[in-house]
Amino acid sequence: MLAVQFYDVVLWVHITAVVTAFGALFAYPLFLAVNAKAPLRERAGFHRLQIAFSKKVTGPAIGVILLAGAYLATDRELWDEPWVTISLVMLFAIAGLGATILRRNEEGMLSAAEAGDAPAYALSFGAARTWTLITLAMIVVTLYVMTAKPFA
Ligand code: HEM
Repeated sequence: MLAVQFYDVVLWVHITAVVTAFGALFAYPLFLAVNAKAPLRERAGFHRLQIAFSKKVTGPAIGVILLAGAYLATDRELWDEPWVTISLVMLFAIAGLGATILRRNEEGMLSAAEAGDAPAYALSFGAARTWTLITLAMIVVTLYVMTAKPFA
């Protein structure tokens, strides 16, 4: 059918924003590991990219996820559904982690790489890897909750 409901357009925007915000994060565990094999001072470039991506892409895209999600939930009167509440809480938690612990450790790896400080790099690297994996797990769980809609 050619007739497309506005709701479906917003759903498409919502899902596109999810891919834009979080897609690249799924490559981070591999990128971090490969980058850590380079000479210390050469590792800085990747961390600069991570920080820029987080600020310029993930942050704004999370805003789009939230606005489009809020429209969908309002249009279909879904605010009482546990899968909407859980996803809302998860989105704030993921955004919070990205702007605090993850950002701090990415900046820590950047400054340690620039300073040639291997022990400081190792410390931030370990924390960044752990929290990146936790964030990815939270994204995967939220994708399940949004699509399978448990407790509905
Ligand atoms: C990390 C956060 C989020 C992810 C990964 C995500 C992902 C998705 C996906 C993949 C769908 C398509 C599901 C389907 O059509 O069966 C969807 C639909 C939807 N999302 Fe989200 N979403 C997130 C956050 C939110 C938030 C915060 C809200 C509300 C404020 C929200 C409200 C909705 C609604 C109402 C639908 C439409 C469900 C339907 O029409 O059946 N989402 N989301």
